[in-house]
Amino acid sequence: MADRRETSRTAGRRAGLDKRPADVAAMFDGVAERYDVTNTVLSAGLDASWRRATREALGARPGQTVLDVAAGTAVSTVELASGGVRAIACDFSQGMLRAGAARPVPKVAGDAMALPLADESVDGVVISFGLRNVADPDAALREFRRVTRPGGTLVVCEFSSPTWAPFRTVYIEYLMRALPRIARAVSSNPDAYVYLAESIRAWPDQPALAGRLQDAGWADVAWHNLTGGIVALHRARRV
Ligand SMILES: C[S@@+](CC[C@H](N)C(=O)[O-])C[C@H]1O[C@@H](n2cnc3c(N)ncnc32)[C@H](O)[C@@H]1O
Repeated sequence: MADRRETSRTAGRRAGLDKRPADVAAMFDGVAERYDVTNTVLSAGLDASWRRATREALGARPGQTVLDVAAGTAVSTVELASGGVRAIACDFSQGMLRAGAARPVPKVAGDAMALPLADESVDGVVISFGLRNVADPDAALREFRRVTRPGGTLVVCEFSSPTWAPFRTVYIEYLMRALPRIARAVSSNPDAYVYLAESIRAWPDQPALAGRLQDAGWADVAWHNLTGGIVALHRARRV
């Protein structure tokens, strides 16, 4: 993971790359109102297919309980809840949870690094576009293991590194130049999308993140790329 420190903030409207929890929560409170629509615009509609692939990678069965950490407006949780799976949304941004209040899934306020759940109480944990925003991702990965029963599954859906170098160059241009401009037209907190671009660039690539999962005690770690590696799904098993 890049070790760059970014501390500039605009009165809590965006977090720095040190990802202080209060700043991150305040930043998401600020984007909550238009979060879903902004996502769909910035991803050119690909977000729905990424969420579907996340549910398929998890492979939860009817009657199983899964925890969607950093669930935001619960748009990711609703996808997981299809087919009789009990999916619970957990997030520390009250604004994001409120913006998703109409979504028919159970919701709980909580921090990824100290989940309000008992040991070995869920069959699976998913975190979509959330781990990159957590102040201590390694502590969160250990916490996900604590709440997952033996044999259970973790899926991390996160922005990653396109594998074909020319595509990676074009993508980074999009991230650093076009994306913040588009966000200015669509989002209720455009500064947050400058943070988005910077945090994606500073995030570990696929093999490095796999190593972090292993170090946190997860077994059978594997990943596959979506959209050329713009997004990667890491999957692991609790032993
Ligand atoms: C980009 S949103 C992702 C929301 C949703 N999972 C999705 O796929 O659209 C990131 C979410 O992570 C949450 N988050 C960041 N750090 C967190 C933490 N330590 N504990 C709980 N939620 C956290 C933010 O509040 C925000 O709602």
